[in-house]
Amino acid sequence: MKFFLDTANVDKIRYFADMGLVDGVTTNPSLIAKEGRDFKKVIKEIVEIVDGPISAEVTALDSDTMVKQAKELSKIHKNIVIKIPMTKDGIKATHIVAKEGISVNMTLIFSAAQALLAAKAGARYVSPFVGRLDDISHIGMDLIASIRAILDNYDFDCEIIVASIRNPLHVVEAAEMGADIATIPPDVMDKLFNHPLTDIGLEKFMKDWESAFGK
Ligand code: G3P
Repeated sequence: MKFFLDTANVDKIRYFADMGLVDGVTTNPSLIAKEGRDFKKVIKEIVEIVDGPISAEVTALDSDTMVKQAKELSKIHKNIVIKIPMTKDGIKATHIVAKEGISVNMTLIFSAAQALLAAKAGARYVSPFVGRLDDISHIGMDLIASIRAILDNYDFDCEIIVASIRNPLHVVEAAEMGADIATIPPDVMDKLFNHPLTDIGLEKFMKDWESAFGK
């Protein structure tokens, strides 16, 4: 399973990349806006840190401008993946740029039908948002199981990026279901490390060592 980091914060990307935990990065307009920095500059810094797929999202709503932006962004680096929203214009833009060899991550996927359309249009990745489904009392992870079953029936060259991850259980369930990728916010990545018994166990090891041999 691949881990992507769902952030535009270069310090946090570097921090987890130094541990060998980052296979790629996903950004979106909200995450870029949160950093308050120039979009292209941030993306250029990220590609220098992580040698893997780096998603940068178009900000247009019409297919012509989406295609234009996709072509511009993909020139930044060979690892750039273009995030395109799941709309009719987005599907059309995906169909056009995918034929030209540009990788698309179709975002804002909330149903299996949308994922199927995205895969058919040529999206290299689909990003179902599990946390936002949980927020409206739908079980987000059920969507991952459904998309996994559909993609396994055919030979689409399309990977599932579990997005809108809110807690470690989302990551574990994604792994159990065979999702290809989890894109994980830094705070959830931190939580994956934690277990109180690890802390208690380590404290006891250190105490016992000190009482036998001193500091
Ligand atoms: O990258 C898109 C997705 O992960 C957003 O997550 O927490 O804003 O629903 P969230």
